[in-house]
Amino acid sequence: MIDNYIYDKKAELIIDGKTYTLPIVEGKEGEKAIDIRKLRSQTGYITIDSGFMNTGSCVSSITFLDGEKSILNYRGYAIEDLANNCSFVEVAYLLVHGSLPTQEQLSEFSQLLGGFALIHEDMIHFFDHFPPYAPPMSILSSMVNSLCNFYPEMSDNPGENIDMMAARLISKIRTIAAFSYKKSMGQPLVYPRHDYSYCANFLNMMFDSPVKPYVVNDAVVAALNKLLILHADHEQNCSTSTVRLVGSAKVNLYASISAGISALWGPLHGGANQAVIEMLEEIYENGGNYMKYIERAKNSKDPFRLVGFGHRVYKSHDPRSRIIKNACEQVLASMGFYSDPLLDIAREIEEVVLRDDYFVSRNLYPNVDFYSGIIYRAIGIPSNMFTVMFALGRLPGWIAHWKEMWDDPNWRIGRPRQIYIGPKRRPFVPVAERKAYPAQ
Ligand code: ACO
Repeated sequence: MIDNYIYDKKAELIIDGKTYTLPIVEGKEGEKAIDIRKLRSQTGYITIDSGFMNTGSCVSSITFLDGEKSILNYRGYAIEDLANNCSFVEVAYLLVHGSLPTQEQLSEFSQLLGGFALIHEDMIHFFDHFPPYAPPMSILSSMVNSLCNFYPEMSDNPGENIDMMAARLISKIRTIAAFSYKKSMGQPLVYPRHDYSYCANFLNMMFDSPVKPYVVNDAVVAALNKLLILHADHEQNCSTSTVRLVGSAKVNLYASISAGISALWGPLHGGANQAVIEMLEEIYENGGNYMKYIERAKNSKDPFRLVGFGHRVYKSHDPRSRIIKNACEQVLASMGFYSDPLLDIAREIEEVVLRDDYFVSRNLYPNVDFYSGIIYRAIGIPSNMFTVMFALGRLPGWIAHWKEMWDDPNWRIGRPRQIYIGPKRRPFVPVAERKAYPAQ
């Protein structure tokens, strides 16, 4: 609750010679905010902040990140510790419930996930009616939205049902993702198995086939766990803010998450991991001249951007990209790929960019997406599924934020304001008397 964090210092704002005092809010890690909740009622002014570069939309106890110091913590635990020591299921539990599970809690949660892994058989027919080249993110968003029709009891009273809802969704999204891939390949569906871990189960549903049984590779399972953990939350990013905004209208969890999936689809957000691999492939196919692409990215007249670089919050290294770079090298070696041309190009681009004044002066470092696609590609996941993988990872974070908002006594529907710059009020003209004006 925001009022618990009001600090003893105050900010002063002077408008037309009149001084207004505004409270200051201070978070647990020392971040400070000017509390403007009463600004409009006291002064008649609003603030304008397109892209929400300086707007704190809530207080939250889920994730802390410091983009200047490359720090990312989930519920107080360093991302490095979680990625190196936990399974994705443990981290999902941590995000949703607030503490790491005991062995007993972990077994119970895993049992729940196993029990919920099937999707209603009627939903399977939906897959048949998407066009063959439908983007997997659109299928995922539609299927998650339709879950509320099959499990309507979960939409009511989420306070009591949240454990079930979280487990149901975290489990089923994996089945939906794997089924959509199998359908797109025209292959028979592979049903979930109770004896496999979360990630092994997903890989088996993706790659097992009647003619070639899938053999679970522990190094691949470990890499997938790591990737999902690294994506599991990132405080108020575009998709999480979308989940909160949609949910703020008291929309059920499934529909709110479905909206988050749509937001994640964008190439400036989750879609970047697909765009990175496409860019690296293009560079490779055109002879490997990456300098040409770096020069294009620096040209202000060219809209091209070096995908996988830059981040709204990290103005130094993205801590996730370092972990992923190491995981990438390990997984490729475990699969017998001792050299990968795309990894070589990626490494060389990173080396040049980190010394180039254009990128250094704008604090543009490799982000989480720069190396993740290389791992997915090595595992056999097609590039149009990369953003789906991101969604699988981000789901526990979305659920945790939706739950936190639901539990917040200060719940308010999200409704920003604006500064209007259109025409002033003007007389209505009947259609027969209207003249065509040049488009404005
Ligand atoms: N390549 C070249 N130039 C870049 C790049 C890039 N990847 N990213 C930013 N810049 C430049 C901009 O052109 C701008 O330059 P200018 O000051 O001369 O105009 C400056 O750096 C600041 O860029 P903004 O767009 O204002 O930064 P913002 O914080 O709004 O954008 C974003 C962040 C969207 C991630 C941006 O860096 C980008 O487009 N990166 C490429 C896409 C990408 O990798 N997205 C994944 C992000 S991570 C995630 O969502 C999980």
